[in-house]
Amino acid sequence: MAHILREHAEHLYAQELEELRKSDSGKRPANWTMTPQSVVTYLLGGRLPNGFEVSPKYIGNRRLMEIAVATLTTDRALLLYGLPGTAKSWVSEHLAAAISGDSTLIVQGTAGTGEEAIRYGWNYARLLAEGPSEKALVETPVVRAMKDGKIARIEELTRIGADVQDTLITILSEKALPIPELNTEVQATRGFNIIATANNRDKGVNDLSSALKRRFNTVILPVPASMEEEIDIVQRRVESFEKVMELPAEKPALEEIRRIVTIFRELRAGLTLDGKSKLKVPSGTLSTAEAISVMNSGLAMAAYFGDGRLTAADLAAGVVGAVVKDPVQDKVVWQEYLETVVKTREDWKDIYRACRDLGI
Ligand SMILES: Nc1ncnc2c1ncn2[C@@H]1O[C@H](COP(=O)(O)OP(=O)(O)OP(=O)(O)O)[C@@H](O)[C@H]1O
Ligand SMILES: [Mg+2]
Repeated sequence: MAHILREHAEHLYAQELEELRKSDSGKRPANWTMTPQSVVTYLLGGRLPNGFEVSPKYIGNRRLMEIAVATLTTDRALLLYGLPGTAKSWVSEHLAAAISGDSTLIVQGTAGTGEEAIRYGWNYARLLAEGPSEKALVETPVVRAMKDGKIARIEELTRIGADVQDTLITILSEKALPIPELNTEVQATRGFNIIATANNRDKGVNDLSSALKRRFNTVILPVPASMEEEIDIVQRRVESFEKVMELPAEKPALEEIRRIVTIFRELRAGLTLDGKSKLKVPSGTLSTAEAISVMNSGLAMAAYFGDGRLTAADLAAGVVGAVVKDPVQDKVVWQEYLETVVKTREDWKDIYRACRDLGI
């Protein structure tokens, strides 16, 4: 059997989900595979009464996850909102996996997403041959979620044009979708709800229409509050990447992760950690997700073109690539940081040299 590159959460964490379902005895909302409390335990990790360890998926504020889960039990949909790389898609996938046992009912929002991607489309060959019928109808993930009482996910909701976004209004307020061509409708089964994600930073995003806003509860996912929290996130994600990719590399030293996260946090804030020097801020967002990628590519470099031990030289290209998104402006930002901050740190000499060697 072929190895799947990226398993869905419900497969990857099948055992955890199974143990959680077995252990929970409280009241489950209709069609949920587990109680809301268990969903939160799945997200944040914890120990079950029988001693089974559930790994944390989201690292951050418990209250936010409780609000997100509680929202999904009501008639309002959930909007996960925030800067790029704050785990919106990640949380959405795990919520759907835990609640419905299925994270695959997903619509990817783009500027080209039309109504038929949210409502339904037609199989034209059938439509022409047989006329409009149930069989000629092409169901969208949203319709399937309505019928099965599951969670539908809409990624990047605000990339979708406002008129198309409004298709969701009837679905969310009436919990039904009229199909005038067949003189019928699809009525949502209990358990159905929608999780949408949107980010407020990228170019080319539309506003969320106010009619739609009223039908969503918004949960804002913040950038990691503290240095230690961010290091923890990066460390866990890098470990699981190494496991999945079966990289012949040693686990990165915590110190390497700390240095990368320091660079990211200082440039993001425009201030050194000691609060002493102001810095220019690069044009792109330096998200936690990018810090994770820098570590991962460094590990790949160490594994295949080094001796398996992660060094500053393996990380340099990734760091510079993450910071310098605009070849003119960001280069100045990076040069200044390199010469005024990196160079002066006693134990950062190897990074300084590795970055200088890149000649950027
Ligand atoms: N607080 C966090 N806890 C756990 N993982 C996190 C956290 N923040 C970021 N990550 C990791 O960052 C990666 C990127 O997250 P994700 O793709 O969900 O971001 P996003 O908010 O959807 O970004 P975008 O707006 O670019 O779509 C994931 O692998 C996730 O594990
Ligand atoms: Mg996303």
